[in-house]
Parts: sequence; structure tokens; C-alpha cells
Amino acid sequence: MGNAQLAQLYVQKESQINTYLSAIVKGAQQATHLTKQLLTFSRGGNPVKKVHKVEILIRDAIEISLSGSKQRCQTEIAPDLWNTKVDGGQIIQNFNNIIINAKQAMPEGGQISIKAKNFHQTWDGENLNLGEAKYVRVEIRDSGVGISQSIIGNIFDPFFTTKKNGTGLGLATCYTIIKKHGGDIRVESEPGKGTVFYIYLPAEEEHIFTESDAMQAEKGSGRVLIMDDDEMIINMLTLLLKSLGYSVEGAMDGEAAIELCKEKINSESAFQIAILDLTVSGGMGGEETVGHLKALEPKIKVLVSSGYSTDPIMSNFKKYGFDGVMPKPYTKESLSRALSKALQK
Ligand SMILES: Nc1ncnc2c1ncn2[C@@H]1O[C@H](COP(=O)(O)OP(=O)(O)OP(=O)(O)O)[C@@H](O)[C@H]1O
Ligand SMILES: [Mg+2]
Repeated sequence: MGNAQLAQLYVQKESQINTYLSAIVKGAQQATHLTKQLLTFSRGGNPVKKVHKVEILIRDAIEISLSGSKQRCQTEIAPDLWNTKVDGGQIIQNFNNIIINAKQAMPEGGQISIKAKNFHQTWDGENLNLGEAKYVRVEIRDSGVGISQSIIGNIFDPFFTTKKNGTGLGLATCYTIIKKHGGDIRVESEPGKGTVFYIYLPAEEEHIFTESDAMQAEKGSGRVLIMDDDEMIINMLTLLLKSLGYSVEGAMDGEAAIELCKEKINSESAFQIAILDLTVSGGMGGEETVGHLKALEPKIKVLVSSGYSTDPIMSNFKKYGFDGVMPKPYTKESLSRALSKALQK
């Protein structure tokens, strides 16, 4: 995916090649989602939480799950909607699973309606019996076949499916994700009329992310040390980061990274930031390396990087001495955001 984005740097924005490259990036993103579904469910992956606008997560999910299909989707998002602090990938995955079910419940086509509004425990006489007071409530409604009373109590069970090719993991994954976020998921259905799912996510008032924050790659400057046992990744990151304005050096394991850092101490080319791969085959990995780098260069900011967002180090990175996380696969936007955020600290 990062390679396709690199290629996009070298072609005209309006060109046909750029359109194909965008399709590759999107396809890779979808494959990543599928893998994540299995990982999240089977390992119960801990969320890596950031502040998100729910509206953007909903729009991304609609784009992924309904592209090219005949079902229409109508949205109604409250203009004053609170933000949430969530694992964006997991919440998009959760919406995807429900939208795909809605689509499958209306094989002849039909209308899906998604609404999002603020919800307060003390409003509407509805009480969730959950810890927080304020939630964002997302409602996903279809006018499909509905679910009969005799099975509605089983739909969140792992491997429960009424579909010929279903895995029965869709809603079980949703349930795991939402519970890990301190939220709730409920369902109402009338056979023959349709189904509605309500998802409650704890609201977050701390920080507003704008759409342009989330979408744009920010230019930056500084000296970056990359440690990864995959040379392709080092090359790809080097090119992407150079295109953003950073200068970059790579090391294949922890020992080499420490050596490089030592060489540059007190010089003009001392590193300000390091991106360390968590697992290095046959060498020192990120967890052990971070302490050595900080001892040599106390001001260096260190990001941990891994393809396993389920690793506890990724969700508790501070406890392990890291300043931020950089989940794989990388995109230019996520990279630039993680770096400029770490450098501002
Ligand atoms: N919107 C809906 N309308 C009607 N039935 C639904 C709807 N959503 C879920 N169900 C029922 O709940 C079951 C479990 O759903 P779940 O998403 O967990 O698995 P699945 O869709 O069968 O398989 P997979 O998600 O792996 O394709 C479905 O098989 C279906 O019977
Ligand atoms: Mg499903």
C-alpha cells in the first residue's frame, strides 16, 4: 500500500494511472480490514484509541462496504455531534460488519439509514447502566428480511449464522469491539419489516479533529532513525519520509540502531525521532531498543511500530517507554501525523 502511495507521488493527479493506484491503495486497505477482523476477534485486540469524529468513521465505512452495490444509504448526522476516543480501524470495521449485514438482508436492493446523535444517560428515560454519562449513539437501520424472535438472542454468538457462506463472526466481532470501548450495542427487529442496530460509544470532549487534520499529509523536518528487519519497509519509509521533508537513516535491528545513534550523538545529525519495529527476527526488537536509545539521546522521541495492533505494547506504549505508536500498514497521512505529533511533545 505504501509503495502504491509512493508511486502516486510521481504521476499527475488527474491521470488514469493515478486512478488505478488509488484503487490498489483501497484494495489493500480492504484486505487489511479482513485480516484485522480475524485478529481482533481471535485475540481480542486491545484498541489503540485516538480522538475521532464519528461522522468521518461512518463515511469511511459506507464507502468501503457499499461501493458498487445497489443499496442506497441515507445519513443524518447531528451537527453538534460529540467526538469519541476510539480505535478508528476497529470502529470502521464494526460499522462495516453491520452495513454489510443490512445489505445482505435486502438482496433486491433497498434503503439503509444511518443516524448519529448525542445521547445522555439521563435523557429520554433510557438508561444504559454503563459507566459514562455521555455517549454518541449511532443507529443503522435497514428495511430487509428482519430477524425472528427465536434467534435474535443468538446473533452476537460467535459462529452463529443463517447464511450459506457466513462465518458468523461479523456481529461477534462487533460485540467484542464495542465492549472493549466501554460502549454497548443493541438490536431491534421486526420480521418482514427490517432491523435496527444501536451502537453507543463513550463521548470525548477533549480535542476536536478537523477533517483536514485527518486527511492531509503535513510536511515536516527533522532527522529520523528507522529500525525494521524488512529492507523493503526501510526503503519505502525512507522515500515517503523524504518526500515529506525529513532526513532518514535505516537500521535492520536494535544493535545497529543503537550503533547509529551513538555515532551521531552531539553532532548536527543527531536523531530527533526513531521508529522501531516491535518484532525483529533474530535480533534486538523495539521493546529492548527503546531504553538504550533514550539513555544515549534523552530527548529523542521514539515511536513503536507493528503490524499487530493487538499487541499490548501498542495500546500501552507509554508504559514501555515509547512516545507514540505507528501501526502498520503505513499511509503517508498516518506517518506525517504521528511524526508531527511526537515532535510537538
Ligand atoms: N440486518 C440484518 N437483517 C437480518 N438478519 C441479520 C441482520 N444482521 C444480522 N442478522 C442475522 O444474524 C446472523 C449473524 O450475523 P453475523 O454478521 O455475525 O454473521 P453472518 O453475517 O451470518 O456471517 P459473516 O458476517 O461472516 O458474513 C446472520 O446470519 C443473520 O441471520
Ligand atoms: Mg455478517
